[in-house]
Amino acid sequence: MTQPYSSILVTGGAGFIGGNFVRLLLERAPTVRIVNLDALTYAGNLASITDCLANPRHSFVRGSITNSELVAHLLKLHAVDGIIHFAAESHVDRSITGPRVFVDTNVMGTLTLLQEARIAGVRRFLQVSTDEVYGSLGADGSFREDTPLAPNSPYSASKTAADHLVHAFHHTYGLDTVITRCSNNYGPYQFPEKMIPLMIRNALRDQPLPVYGDGLHVRDWLHVLDHCRAIWRVFSAGRAGEIYNIGGNSEKTNLDVVKTILGILGKPESLIRFVKDRPGHDRRYAIDAGKIRRELGWVPEVAFAAGITDTVAWYLKNQAWLDQVASGDYQHYYERMYAQRGAAAPVA
Ligand code: NAD
Ligand code: TYD
Repeated sequence: MTQPYSSILVTGGAGFIGGNFVRLLLERAPTVRIVNLDALTYAGNLASITDCLANPRHSFVRGSITNSELVAHLLKLHAVDGIIHFAAESHVDRSITGPRVFVDTNVMGTLTLLQEARIAGVRRFLQVSTDEVYGSLGADGSFREDTPLAPNSPYSASKTAADHLVHAFHHTYGLDTVITRCSNNYGPYQFPEKMIPLMIRNALRDQPLPVYGDGLHVRDWLHVLDHCRAIWRVFSAGRAGEIYNIGGNSEKTNLDVVKTILGILGKPESLIRFVKDRPGHDRRYAIDAGKIRRELGWVPEVAFAAGITDTVAWYLKNQAWLDQVASGDYQHYYERMYAQRGAAAPVA
């Protein structure tokens, strides 16, 4: 039996998945201490983890994963023995209009963490990656761990580069690493630039719902808590140097998802607007999650129909959170991004 981890550095723990993960870990691992390093970019928000901030086993530090002195200091100060790395620039559309910060954060930030982890003798490094590194599928098939990497967007290219560095640190220096590659997540606390919370927010305001292209692009949706449980399972029991795909076996077209949201809210489908497509838009993602199921016994627990209903209810109940994260630059972002698609609409 391996020794349990006592002090884990979680990066990006004020973001959507990282924040849900911190909350889950505080509940599930009652002896683990968490150091949460997050730069609080537009996507990071302390309002998403207010309950966790009061927990004495959780220390929040505002700072960048690209700051090697800070990372080295935290690893030493807190005697960190594991790293779970979520922090990233995560939105494909932003990567198309401004790719540089994606390389700075996703590539250079990951390199900084790997270097300092190696120097500090951290026992395990988990890289939270994405199925988007595999590129796009045709009508059939699904991504396996040995599917060739073929990223199409600046976002997925930067995540692929980071995954290669993680592999190189394992292969060259013997650092204990694991990589998870998950499909699209949905659930509480997701920033409303991503499709599901954006559509819920617009529908709540009776604003147009901007569907890219023909709306028949397919994503394999997974509830964020299922993703968090899978990450903890891989971190705790995955084999060193391995990659684990994570997916919900829940393929939907974007149009189906949007219609489902409108149905739950009792809003008319006439709110749907087909707008100019995303350049280089990946057509279909689907995950073969057989390896994590066979080796680690993980299966998704939340069916999409129940998960999306709960998620819509969560946003309805937490409109103050939504208003808070959508204040600041969000309005400008929305106008900039959607005017060029021919769908600018006031969203205040
Ligand atoms: P998010 O954008 O909601 O959160 C990212 C967090 O990282 C924010 O809190 C932000 O402040 C922080 N951050 C950004 N730059 C930083 C820096 N330089 N230093 C420290 N913190 C920084 O993203 P998310 O959706 O929660 O995604 C988390 C991870 O999961 C990412 O690595 C992403 O690639 C991966 N992923 C996401 C999905 C999805 O559907 N959202 C699916 C698969 C994998
Ligand atoms: P998104 O949530 O940005 O995730 P990703 O691009 O990483 O899969 O988008 C999910 C899907 O929804 C994708 O096919 C693009 C589409 N989409 C829209 O049709 N309209 C929108 O306003 C957004 C943000 C996304």
